[in-house]
Amino acid sequence: VPSKSMVVWEKFSNQSMFEKKLYHYGTFPGSFLWGVSSSAYQIEGGWNIDGKGPSIWDKFTQKPGNIPGSANGNVACDSYNRLEEDLYMLRALRVKSYRFSLSWSRIFPDGLRTSLNQKGVDYYNRLIDNLLAYNITPMVTLYHWDLPQALQNINGWDNITIIDIFNDFCDFCFATFGNRVKFWMTFNQPHTIAWSGYGLGQIPPNVKMPGDAPYRVAHNLLKAHAKAYHTYDEKYRKSQGGLVSIALNADWIEPTDVNVPREVVAADRALQFQIGWFAHPIFKNGDYPDAMKWQVGNKSELQGLSESRLPAFTEEEKAFIRGTADVFCINHYTTKIVSHITARLSPQSYEHDQDLSEAEEVDSPTTAISKQRAVAWGLRRLLNWIKEEYGDPEIYITENGVSTDKETTFDDTARVFYYKTYIDEVLKGQISIFNINLFFVQGYIATSLMDSFEWLNGYTVGFGFHRVDFTNPNRPRTPKYSAHYYYQVIKDNGFPL
Ligand code: NOJ
Repeated sequence: VPSKSMVVWEKFSNQSMFEKKLYHYGTFPGSFLWGVSSSAYQIEGGWNIDGKGPSIWDKFTQKPGNIPGSANGNVACDSYNRLEEDLYMLRALRVKSYRFSLSWSRIFPDGLRTSLNQKGVDYYNRLIDNLLAYNITPMVTLYHWDLPQALQNINGWDNITIIDIFNDFCDFCFATFGNRVKFWMTFNQPHTIAWSGYGLGQIPPNVKMPGDAPYRVAHNLLKAHAKAYHTYDEKYRKSQGGLVSIALNADWIEPTDVNVPREVVAADRALQFQIGWFAHPIFKNGDYPDAMKWQVGNKSELQGLSESRLPAFTEEEKAFIRGTADVFCINHYTTKIVSHITARLSPQSYEHDQDLSEAEEVDSPTTAISKQRAVAWGLRRLLNWIKEEYGDPEIYITENGVSTDKETTFDDTARVFYYKTYIDEVLKGQISIFNINLFFVQGYIATSLMDSFEWLNGYTVGFGFHRVDFTNPNRPRTPKYSAHYYYQVIKDNGFPL
């Protein structure tokens, strides 16, 4: 960490926001997994070199105007060529884990197992070997949105044959990297894949069919996840001893008025649509939440449609999907306030609904940091909701972070405040009985290691602990104040008195 950061850090750490009375003090257990995250398309670059095939994000971003400044991930942070620099940052932060994703089309250019690209495999082998050499646990996401374009040409996640194709890819990755990778996540944010990709149509493959496509896609994602889980279970678990999960995402949803039952129910319904859509089948009963079955299923009939828009699982499928995650992984950023809206029953009504939950966002509370609201207590409420709803699973927070406006400076005090308060809520959420701490949250992965390609926002916002100069071909990385802060939290293992 450069001396400049040190000097400002000293000054900053004396500010009143760190007065003891505002915070809960204490430390996490020794095994707590502190980490940072990234994903392949956001950082790697090298989009068409060494045999990599194009992905749906390559195709989408090549079209000028789709992203602010016509930005794309062709070079991004150039991590494909700058592995050593990424490793240096990880070591400097002293993280215990690094969450990254595999670019499917770097390994299989057309998505199928017939087209192995050894150079892609070599890259991930080097990354994994180096992480282990430095005692950093690799946490690997198998799918973080960059579907091989060749598979989109046969309809991507809306084609059931992809379930087996994805399973082949996962099988290969377990066999190839699983002797060293012990923490797998099949999908990153399946809700985003289904809803933003096939409902709102904002992200690739930009299908705008909110009525039914998201539900078909989610159905396939759940089956694909379960199949990959069973493959691991049957072929690799015994010899490799790792765990498999899926990274879900949710805001905390607060009702407009906690004293009005209908508002409380509406907020819960919104959470069922966000988390329950995937978590009920996997962590509960193999099936969708009742709120969704009513809203998207039964109501289709009232809307004059002959069939439910929510596909149904057979009993065998339910049994196949139930219990297919070893831990609960959750990505969380902010809190929203919602209010009940009255059902609209015309046949076309669903096309106008935001998420069909009949819970409309009305406001987000408290202080704004850029466009995202920092509401630290929302994280604790969300953790407790998950704990109660899904029978106290082991939880990993697999993404949490904030983008700040002034990415051109290193003065990201707002980000430090965000981390301080959010991590503190994780600490507060732990139960202590007879001086024994019962920690249901096992790890915390901050987003992200460095500023990177932020999807629809291109390079206009950054979540990173490190700034990357995207105007410089060498993509120099420089720590922000938050990097030093996070280093300190990890070193202290929390907030000791
Ligand atoms: C969630 C996504 O998983 C991640 O890739 C992205 O960087 C963050 N949101 C921030 O937008």
